[in-house]
Amino acid sequence: MKKDEMERFTGNIYLCGFMASGKSTLGRVLALKGDRNFCDLDEVIVEREGMSIREIFEKKGGPYFRNKEREYLLDLAESFSGIISLGGGALHNQEVVDLLKQSGLLVFVDTPMEVITNRVFNSDERPILFKKDGKIKMKETLFTELKALYLGRENFYKQAHIHIQTQLYPSVEEMAEALIAKISRHV
Ligand code: S3P
Repeated sequence: MKKDEMERFTGNIYLCGFMASGKSTLGRVLALKGDRNFCDLDEVIVEREGMSIREIFEKKGGPYFRNKEREYLLDLAESFSGIISLGGGALHNQEVVDLLKQSGLLVFVDTPMEVITNRVFNSDERPILFKKDGKIKMKETLFTELKALYLGRENFYKQAHIHIQTQLYPSVEEMAEALIAKISRHV
């Protein structure tokens, strides 16, 4: 039943939202339930660049990462069919938002900032956690910086076709079911 509902929409589904909001976890479950392919843009970047995200930021710098992120995303929009989970900074300008909205359905995965801060603080994956000297930032500093970053991006996230608030669902499974229902109502 759920698979049939998803099958009505054959275009790409792009999951956007702030870092650590749960886009990839939701995307994987959604792909399984809807029998679609799944792809994580950060993983594509890591694979094609042969370095971790943190290493790319440290060795090549933020602008290099953003250029590659954009290049690989536009490439995937053309060549991949299924569900694509974006990095939190991938929607950095209006052109990219417009392009993705034309190429498929854009979904905003919205998670409270307190949850995001805890996730970022408890993992060593994301460059924003570290100071220039490589040491970990204080949690309060991280919260303030994440909030400021979010405010600069929310205008892009909020243009998504579908908005899903993760705190409303007790499990990823239920969130994926709710998203499938939203997708089938939308198309
Ligand atoms: C970033 C988010 C990360 C990753 C990189 C930069 C950001 O992806 O692309 O660390 O600027 O918001 P996730 O959203 O998957 O954490």
